[in-house]
Amino acid sequence: MTERTFSIIKPDATKRNLTGKVNAVIEDAGLRIVAQRRIKMTKAQAEKFYEVHAARPFYGELVEFMTSEPVVVQVLEGDNAVARYREVMGATNPEQAAPGTIRKLYALSVGENSVHGSDSQENAAIEIAQFFTAADIPG
Ligand code: CMP
Repeated sequence: MTERTFSIIKPDATKRNLTGKVNAVIEDAGLRIVAQRRIKMTKAQAEKFYEVHAARPFYGELVEFMTSEPVVVQVLEGDNAVARYREVMGATNPEQAAPGTIRKLYALSVGENSVHGSDSQENAAIEIAQFFTAADIPG
């Protein structure tokens, strides 16, 4: 089923000029980038986005990292896009990520792991709405 997911190319990747290389992996996997914007996240945006992790010991570090450099927020579209993108990203910890995945190729650590992808269709819709309006997504 064609669906959409939300992606972030994180500061460790934008800082190393890896936006194009990450996008190549996404597109080669059959996902279409239907919206994309490079932004500097505000502290309030990052805190809200990662609200679900607020009680975790790494929350402060995570918010600091996500606001340290620009990120690229994206909407990806394709067959089973949520699950497909999670496959393409690889495991959160790059040491456990499968060969050929974005995190295996480019991530530095479990924190600086180059990309984010929504974990469910419900969260994809919530996350997309935090950064895009319908008019931003021509399809
Ligand atoms: P993401 O998919 O964006 O969702 C939550 C993020 O928290 C995760 O990717 C990692 O970047 C980060 N994260 C998860 N575990 C840790 C950890 N142990 N230390 C630091 N950051 C973490």
